[in-house]
Amino acid sequence: MLIVQLSDSHLCADPAQRYRGVDVQARLSSMMARVAACQPDLVILSGDVSDDGSIASYQRAAEQLDALGCRWTWLPGNHDHPATMAEVRPLETVIHLDGWQIVLLDSWIEGEEGGRLGVDQLARLEAQLAGDTTPTLIVLHHPPVIVEAAWMNEIGLEDRDAFRAILGRYDHVHAVLCGHIHHERTCLQDGVPIMSVPAVAAQFVPDSPDFAVDERAPAGFRLIRLSSNETPGPLLSSRVEYVPD
Ligand SMILES: [Fe+2]
Repeated sequence: MLIVQLSDSHLCADPAQRYRGVDVQARLSSMMARVAACQPDLVILSGDVSDDGSIASYQRAAEQLDALGCRWTWLPGNHDHPATMAEVRPLETVIHLDGWQIVLLDSWIEGEEGGRLGVDQLARLEAQLAGDTTPTLIVLHHPPVIVEAAWMNEIGLEDRDAFRAILGRYDHVHAVLCGHIHHERTCLQDGVPIMSVPAVAAQFVPDSPDFAVDERAPAGFRLIRLSSNETPGPLLSSRVEYVPD
């Protein structure tokens, strides 16, 4: 099974509106052509689909995703408006596909740039992992780890320690995917890969102490291949496909 993860498209109500100098509408369209060529079974947008939370931005994103002809889903980032998103396409929490469970978490906090899962959602995550031990992939917007871009940690995931503690109690979570930091980054936390993806929109400098855009860094998306226990080789493999303008 092949999954594509896209993140941080930052579309606006006005399709001509640029995000930090990037024509995000045109960028998303050209990336969709590359995504379609990969023939994914599932496409996941991991938040900041919209920059302004407008219904028009979600409708345009959904049109592009529908045109792929495969299953797709999305979850909210700090720039999104979850209720408006859900009017266009309901938010999902768990997807079962090909012997895997994909858990989609909502780290959105109204009016804030940082994220939080909250005690209720963390309890649901724990119950889900305790009750279903099929190989699991978790996706959320905010990285659940400290990153090199110090300013990002100020607006990171508030309850990352509680999230880490839950993951530590189960050995069937094979990776965590996130967005928010607008660049590719992979680390291992307690043996579990935590992977972010380049933004569809502008990229941020990975190791800058303060906010900084890398105007030359290309956009990209992540390909995640998930196998079954019956297939030889790793259960999960992943790489980023860069899409220069
Ligand atoms: Fe973003």
